[in-house]
Amino acid sequence: MKDTLDLLTHRGSIRKFSDKPIPEDVLHNIYKATICSQNYANGQQYSIIVVTDQKKKDFLYETTVSPTSGRGMSYIKKAPIFLLFVMDFNKIDRVMKKERVEMKIQDSLEALLIGSVDVGIAMQAATVAIANEGLGSVAVGAIRTSVKEIIETFELPKYTYPIAGLAIGYLDEGVSIVETPRLPLKSFLHDNSYSKAAFDELVDEYDVKMKEAYAIKGIADLTWSKFVSNYYGKPIYIEQIESYKKQGFKL
Ligand SMILES: Cc1cc2nc3c(=O)[nH]c(=O)nc-3n(C[C@H](O)[C@H](O)[C@H](O)COP(=O)(O)O)c2cc1C
Repeated sequence: MKDTLDLLTHRGSIRKFSDKPIPEDVLHNIYKATICSQNYANGQQYSIIVVTDQKKKDFLYETTVSPTSGRGMSYIKKAPIFLLFVMDFNKIDRVMKKERVEMKIQDSLEALLIGSVDVGIAMQAATVAIANEGLGSVAVGAIRTSVKEIIETFELPKYTYPIAGLAIGYLDEGVSIVETPRLPLKSFLHDNSYSKAAFDELVDEYDVKMKEAYAIKGIADLTWSKFVSNYYGKPIYIEQIESYKKQGFKL
């Protein structure tokens, strides 16, 4: 069994799953660890739709497109379970109605920050618990390709919003964890105030490492600098704003 530091530092997203079913007790451990996460004001502003219905997984696969490759992601339909993480102020609204107080948080940007940070932390806890149980996972933010359709299909009520998914399962035969290099630690840490010094040289160093990592995956001549420039050189999923407002939120 790996210790916590090992689980956190030697990890990697898994995108090829076996058909092996996940036992109920294993799932219970994963869900329990997930909901014990720290969360804003203990409001627990998220819900998890456990997607096991193959038709619904197929729907998610068909409506999800990678912003980089423009292609679908087959692991969404092949994973035995897809966890859809939804920011959830609906339950807060219900409680507040019972208390006869009107909810107003949805009128501030803060709602999106609170809800998505809660989801992010819960997803990380789930990811670590999944790895601890000997399974693998990959987060899927690209579900936001089709927020409108997801809201309809999963009957997401007012004051909820789909943030991301987690495809989970046992690793397919022959698949093992591949650790993607990170930027040097020095580039994350700033001594008391934000410093731009040294970042450019550190990126050059990192680009060499990532070029090798991409080459191992069969992608030639790609660096991290090129990858992020392609990724962030255009707005992504801008139609979301309408769905976000329809769910009762303001920006
Ligand atoms: C919020 C979030 C959304 C993500 N969305 C996707 C996605 O849509 N498709 C995908 O293949 N990977 C997705 N990933 C996985 C990242 O690409 C991956 O974590 C990153 O490349 C680092 O690789 P590693 O997890 O193997 O270390 C997502 C990760 C996060 C945290």
